[in-house]
Amino acid sequence: MSNEIKRLAVFTSGGDAPGMNAAVRAVVRTAAFNDLHVYGITRGYEGMIDGDLKRLEVRDVGNIIHRGGTILKTARSKRFMTPEGRKTAYEALLAFDIDACVAIGGNGTFTGADVFSKEYDIPIVGVPGTIDNDLYGTDATVGFDTAINTAIEAVDKIRDTADSHNRLFFVEVMGRNSGFIALNTGIGSGAGCILIPEIDSNIDELVEVLRKGARRKKLFSVVIVAEGNKYGGATEIAERVQEAFDHYDTKVAIIGHLQRGGSPSALDRVLASRLGFGAVEAIIAGKSNCMVGIINNKIKHTPFVDAITKNKHPNKDLVRMAEILAI
Ligand code: F6P
Repeated sequence: MSNEIKRLAVFTSGGDAPGMNAAVRAVVRTAAFNDLHVYGITRGYEGMIDGDLKRLEVRDVGNIIHRGGTILKTARSKRFMTPEGRKTAYEALLAFDIDACVAIGGNGTFTGADVFSKEYDIPIVGVPGTIDNDLYGTDATVGFDTAINTAIEAVDKIRDTADSHNRLFFVEVMGRNSGFIALNTGIGSGAGCILIPEIDSNIDELVEVLRKGARRKKLFSVVIVAEGNKYGGATEIAERVQEAFDHYDTKVAIIGHLQRGGSPSALDRVLASRLGFGAVEAIIAGKSNCMVGIINNKIKHTPFVDAITKNKHPNKDLVRMAEILAI
């Protein structure tokens, strides 16, 4: 065990994700088990810059494992992108005698953590917490499973009304530039078509798929559109399709931030617990500037720079299967 680590800080940053609280709980309790003091930083890097830290004891993280959102609050910090902001943050951590940090977040969080841990001598280990599942170095990120369950539940409801009215629905899901949420929501909800940014889509092909469906007596259909599509969102795509093929009465539904809330699924609670636990063990083992992930059920440590820059593509076999099952 590294002798220098006595005080740990934990924070959540970027978009919240269901399961972040379970990760905070795991960090606090694993640290306490190893006789480390833990401080919670409020509002991510914003709170770090403002010196907004408070001691977290074992009982402070009781009764939170099932709660969505994050008890530590979160923010996207523009100030932390500046050298002055990071210097102020470093000074605040020194003022609280913090020896290491656990950062729970996604792409933006680890971009900041990578720069910070190269500039300053405070080790940071990351827990992947984002609904987007767009980080290399882990099979799943905390929040992804809950988000797709929420999205599927929403599409199930849309499907009822689409069926009743013989309508064509374009349903937009989140994911920023990645299509994991769309692909899994589409497969799980039996969508007629799934548009993801990783695979070049074109309106003519989409219209052809819908035409074929209509010829096969499909009376209604649901198309899942990942935000970040080159044509725009579900609204823009629906307009283009309607111009080319007006067989169906067309409607649009944007699920939006519903996907970020709610009680975490069992998978997310277990994943968050394992990763929070793993992050503290990594810090004790002297690791820094890396994200803890799980690949094929084994804990892995991936440098922040790889986690945020290496491509993680949705499985091509799943894409092919989704197309076949949507006949
Ligand atoms: O990264 C999570 C995410 O929900 C993305 O899917 C989405 O593009 C973005 O955050 C929305 O961010 P905000 O809530 O800040 O508008």
